[in-house]
Amino acid sequence: MPSNRRDQRDDEERLTAPEELTIPRRELFRVLGWSSLVGAAGLAAYSLLRFSSPPPLDKERTRVPLGGADRYANHSLHYVAAPKVFVKHDAQGLAAMSAVCTHLACVVRWNASHGLLECPCHGSRFDAAGKVLRGPARRDLPYFRLELATNGQLVADVSRPVSRQERLDVHGPRTS
Ligand code: FES
Repeated sequence: MPSNRRDQRDDEERLTAPEELTIPRRELFRVLGWSSLVGAAGLAAYSLLRFSSPPPLDKERTRVPLGGADRYANHSLHYVAAPKVFVKHDAQGLAAMSAVCTHLACVVRWNASHGLLECPCHGSRFDAAGKVLRGPARRDLPYFRLELATNGQLVADVSRPVSRQERLDVHGPRTS
């Protein structure tokens, strides 16, 4: 085929083909806009669902050994870094009080000279029983269930909050 005839046919195809495939620009932007909106809304809904329903706690990871009960002398407050609790031993027995500030989760420190717990981050203060004395924290420090295993080890269950009055009688029944 002579080359200028082929060129002529190519030109004709070029002129007709784009018309069949053309999507009006306004329509294209409208479809892209809606797709982006629907995608963003779906992502937001998924994130919200994930955030509002945290995965269940692993029971083994929430039961933390704290060593032998004899490690905690009478009338003492002893910080245990994992799981960030104070083990208190008072006249009523043993208790595990959270050391995590209820404001934004910094670890509070015992100030022996003032007899209170202080948060180094934003200055909240708690009395020795964990009650808020000064904000910005609004909630008292929670207490967790303490158990005495058959091997004599104290175990804190940080998934089970208990009242601040609850104490473990180290001479009471043991759990496995
Ligand atoms: S984290 Fe303790 S006062 Fe803010």
